Amino acid sequence: MRTQVCIIGGGPSGLLLGQLLHTVGVDTIVLERQSKDHVLSRIRAGVLERGFQNLMIQAGVGDRMIAEGIIHDGTLLSNGDEKLRIDFKALTGSHVMVYGQTEVTHDLYAARDNIGAPTLHQVEHVEIDNLDQPQATVRFQQNGEQHEITCDYVAGCDGFHGVSRTTIPVEKRREFEKVYPFGWLGILSETPPVDHELIYANSERGFALASMRNPNLSRYYIQCPLSDDVKDWSDDAFWSEFKSRIPSDAAERLVTGPSIEKSIAPLRSFVCEPMSWGRLFLCGDAAHIVPPTGAKGLNTAASDIHYLFEALAEKYSERSDAGLNAYCEKALARVWKTQRFSWWMTNLLHHFPDQTSFDRRVQSAEFAFLQSNEDAQRALATNYVGLPY
Ligand code: APR
Ligand code: PHB
Repeated sequence: MRTQVCIIGGGPSGLLLGQLLHTVGVDTIVLERQSKDHVLSRIRAGVLERGFQNLMIQAGVGDRMIAEGIIHDGTLLSNGDEKLRIDFKALTGSHVMVYGQTEVTHDLYAARDNIGAPTLHQVEHVEIDNLDQPQATVRFQQNGEQHEITCDYVAGCDGFHGVSRTTIPVEKRREFEKVYPFGWLGILSETPPVDHELIYANSERGFALASMRNPNLSRYYIQCPLSDDVKDWSDDAFWSEFKSRIPSDAAERLVTGPSIEKSIAPLRSFVCEPMSWGRLFLCGDAAHIVPPTGAKGLNTAASDIHYLFEALAEKYSERSDAGLNAYCEKALARVWKTQRFSWWMTNLLHHFPDQTSFDRRVQSAEFAFLQSNEDAQRALATNYVGLPY
């Protein structure tokens, strides 16, 4: 088999890149380890920056997102019963959109099927080779048979547990990591969201987040110890803990119901440098992970895709390597800014097991400063709605 760009991983990064490249006539093959049903059943965050929305539109996949996505002009932060609304619109002139990553992936798959571009599912033993040669090679197995693809470039979009990153020789790779001493227990419930905007809550009992998918589907989280087992969390226990962490007026109007999904996710900050190696370019979770506070995972993947798409489009139209040579530096410059923001928001809003009473006071002072200072609010809002590409 031969293609111009071989994309490893059929998550949002790989699929979005494939759609964008299609708009400029560049052909791709997507290799995905899981089945399509498996990929489409994953529940992830759902807050889209303007940059992400624009990329979906540019890729010709924005119609359902525009029709069904919910525009959010602000978000609420709380510290106990102290509240602060961050007004994105007034502070930055911009907004975010709530539209689940599951829906994004669904729309991207439908578009890819529509153009008849090849996506090979349940591939195994992917190996990337010849990255320093005029053509790269990707070998893999499907249904027990060995296959080989020759291509100009490989896009490593295979997430944190993928193979692409490890193709960069270990002595040339540097990994930066911070593991947080807690996880997020999340539930999905068919109940109306407690508020029309998201609530990021810090409290004496730790962090909670009230989010949503649509007017009758809520997504709620609480910070929990990493040693907790999701099986030990009954719905009643979740609701009672969640209510104790959000502001009391919100707790009073909260509608509870049975959970339709419940899981615990660890929190991690991670960056791999470099993000390119010969003909290989890493994008999204394959190169970096953020803790979910601030919803930057999918959005940071999107900025990588933007830079790589522009570079490949330039290469195929103008025969110039300039964009590809600059990809790593440009992508990492933005990645580190979103790392800083996600880390900062995580620190502002969570209880750390080793936190002293001094640390707690500093955290409350940081919240009080935000409440009293519009410049600090604007800094938060500017990062939340998304830094420019
Ligand atoms: N070969 C082929 N595919 C693979 C391999 C492999 N060896 N390893 C992993 N994959 C697939 C996974 O099954 C998954 O479908 O690569 C895909 C990677 O998708 P994601 O993990 O979703 O990563 P990405 O597309 O970069 O999406 C960005 O932002 O909100 C965050 O973590 C969230 O998924 C989200 C991410
Ligand atoms: C979500 O809706 O799942 C969500 C929203 C905002 C976050 C994280 C997750 O910061």
